[in-house]
Amino acid sequence: MIVTTKKLFEAAYGKYAIGAYNINNLEQTMGLFQGCLMSRSPFIIQISKGARTYTHKKMLEAMIRTADEIFPEAVFAVHLDHGDEQTCMECIESGFYSSVMIDASHEDFETNIAITKKIVDAAHARGIVVESELGQLGGVEEHVSVSEADAKLTDPDTAKEFVERSGCDSLAVAIGTSHGAFKFSGNQALRFDVLSEIQRRLPGFPLVMHGSSSVPQEEVARINAAGGALKGAKGVDADQFLRAAELGVTKINIDTDGRLVWTRVHREYFQEHPENFDLRPPGKVFMAEYAKFIAAKNDKLGSSGQLDAVRRMLGL
Ligand code: G3H
Ligand code: 13P
Ligand code: ZN
Repeated sequence: MIVTTKKLFEAAYGKYAIGAYNINNLEQTMGLFQGCLMSRSPFIIQISKGARTYTHKKMLEAMIRTADEIFPEAVFAVHLDHGDEQTCMECIESGFYSSVMIDASHEDFETNIAITKKIVDAAHARGIVVESELGQLGGVEEHVSVSEADAKLTDPDTAKEFVERSGCDSLAVAIGTSHGAFKFSGNQALRFDVLSEIQRRLPGFPLVMHGSSSVPQEEVARINAAGGALKGAKGVDADQFLRAAELGVTKINIDTDGRLVWTRVHREYFQEHPENFDLRPPGKVFMAEYAKFIAAKNDKLGSSGQLDAVRRMLGL
């Protein structure tokens, strides 16, 4: 059943985080639903602009609606990831998305507020909720000075004003993570000091952590052993998710780790079966491995075992 992220955040706030997983194709869709039912977790499906154009946006919608029929117990939100104004408006009008992210974090503070407010007004009129972002994610090189790196993080002092004036329902914060497989080049880590200052100013308000893949070292090693070239890949320590959840993070975005599962499965499969040219055997292995990966990630997020409580909260 499709619900808003707002409903899921009400259940999770302060206790656990909801996994927000990017999907692009049928195998990910099946694995995601299977994994979330294995762990009995509510979840968020994220669709990026790139995913909408990979095949056709209607194809993704049809796959998700069909998965909803195949797995009637599943409770999830359908969320546009990193939307611009035009894509947000399209998704709001589509009647399919329950949540959109407007990403105007590259704009100045006032422009970010104005764009977010415009999307919030349109979304709320249709019962859709909005995530916005303040601060800038990005890989921080070791040679960058602390003050330069800090300047990109979310400023706790302006976060409250941003939320009040924009009317957004959740806020993506920059606290040291970045997208992709190469997050930290040195000893950098999550900035819990900044996160707790943000929560102090916005108690009870749902925060979002992008760029949260863990880039497991054993996965990277297996990919490289099977012909890959991912040198120096590094991610976020998944054992820190629950600490982030206690500090108000209710949505944790994961895409890269799922791509690593896909890469490992296919590299190993074709290395072991060089004679094969049927796409289904590795596809089957991938769906099962992806489901296992999702269930294990939900354990780290604390969302495992929460599905029944969420269903009760929703009167299901
Ligand atoms: O934050 C971005 C997500 O990982 C989606 O990536 O735009 O390549 O689909 P994408
Ligand atoms: P990762 O690249 O760490 O998986 O982050 C994904 C993300 O933030 C999607 O919005
Ligand atoms: Zn992101």
